[in-house]
Amino acid sequence: MSSEDGQRATPYLDAISAYAARVPARLHVPGHKGGAGADAGLIETVGEQALAVDIPALTYGIDLGPEPTPFEEAQRLAAEAWGARRTWFLINGASQGNLAAGLALAHQGTEVVVQRNAHSSTIDSLVMSGLRPTFVSPELDPELGIAHCLTPVALDVALAATPGAAGAWVVSPTYFGAAADVRGLVEVAHAHGVALIVDEAWGAHMAFHEALPEHALAAGADLVISSTHKIVGSMTQSAMLHLGHEPLLGEDTVDRAVTLTESTSPSSLLFGSLDAARRQAAVAGRELLEHSMAALAQAREEILAIDGLDVLDERLVGRPGVHGYDPLRLAVDVRGVNASGYELAVLLREIDDINLELYGQNVIVAVFGMGERGMPEAARLVHALREAVSRVGLDPHGEHASFAAPPPWGELAMTPREAYLGAQEVVPADQAVGRIAAESLATYPPGIPNVLPGERLTAETLAYIRGTLELGGSIRGASDRRLRTVRVVVE
Ligand SMILES: Cc1ncc(COP(=O)(O)O)c(C=O)c1O
Repeated sequence: MSSEDGQRATPYLDAISAYAARVPARLHVPGHKGGAGADAGLIETVGEQALAVDIPALTYGIDLGPEPTPFEEAQRLAAEAWGARRTWFLINGASQGNLAAGLALAHQGTEVVVQRNAHSSTIDSLVMSGLRPTFVSPELDPELGIAHCLTPVALDVALAATPGAAGAWVVSPTYFGAAADVRGLVEVAHAHGVALIVDEAWGAHMAFHEALPEHALAAGADLVISSTHKIVGSMTQSAMLHLGHEPLLGEDTVDRAVTLTESTSPSSLLFGSLDAARRQAAVAGRELLEHSMAALAQAREEILAIDGLDVLDERLVGRPGVHGYDPLRLAVDVRGVNASGYELAVLLREIDDINLELYGQNVIVAVFGMGERGMPEAARLVHALREAVSRVGLDPHGEHASFAAPPPWGELAMTPREAYLGAQEVVPADQAVGRIAAESLATYPPGIPNVLPGERLTAETLAYIRGTLELGGSIRGASDRRLRTVRVVVE
């Protein structure tokens, strides 16, 4: 059987389905017993079959018994489909992948180079692992007010300044679809003798069409975090962690880190959905992506024809920090209309129940799945955008778009772990200058954290955050989203 034929199989999905079909004596958890003991409302909402295949771990014939078990075989097929040395199925999202990645790296050393605007789960991983970060700024797009990716040159400088680094940790593609020069980043990391971890949460589909930016494993990354549920279409909370082929990270170390970060009762529905999504991607992904890309190209053209709107597309490639563009995101530049992205998001909901993935001051983002057929929702978005723009009118000067570049972040006075676990107090923001932050403060736009746990708060940074809030921006991570108070470490 060729590997292509092999990819048609779904061993795990078949095994849970066969177990349910046998009507076994379920003398194990979960207590709803395949649905027999479930609330009628739950059965009506999720369906009988979903409950019938809700089967615990360590069930003979599924993940116990003669090897390879269907569970092992399903993960092997995923590793083959993405080109990994080994793949782990995750049931706590790409967030779990980031947590496990930090714990695995902490076996190799105590320091790490991290892209500044990493996902919050990466910062949580620094707390869990105790790693001391050297942060590197991604490239900022002053025009759009968003952050792109990290360049190989910036990574080189950061690694040279961190000779004890155990690895480097970057994000690609971004929420907005910009992809990094991962091949260049790999070269730099390997030249410094360290592993490159790529948070490819938004790029699981990129392995299945040559017109998309090269995916991180193909570019030589050592550990890749993949949020399979985001675009490839497994169920929410399911994800994968892929190990690359260079021997810079140990398979057993990653395995233990995955175990440490996962429930002892993983959901068979989530695992089954990963097995199924892998089959769909491997067998039909190319054709599905072809179709999705064509439908989205048309939607982009229609949006471009609406006065006041622009779209993000491959024209971004070549700007600092943008090596490729992933068209599976429909990101719309709204600077030319007389409303912010925040206001437009509300209006789109009112006009036609349009629910966006992300909206900021200047850009709104709609996400499309790899397997969507017909894409009627793209047309619905275009129509609602046309209506929204006709209601708010144009802003030829794009005045609401100006945001100053953020000041440099403060000195790292202790590790994120020490700050998180240390004694803390909440103080008025105007008394927080010089104190060590115990929480993150990240202003949007552009979403790069201004403050992370363990860093000293500066007057400049606090003034910048206040200014961004006054301009209509927001902060994430803060316990007080109006910045009246800040949580700091008691020294
Ligand atoms: C870059 C990045 N990494 C990780 C995550 C976490 O993914 P998940 O929600 O699957 O845990 C996200 C979520 O949006 C993300 O954007």
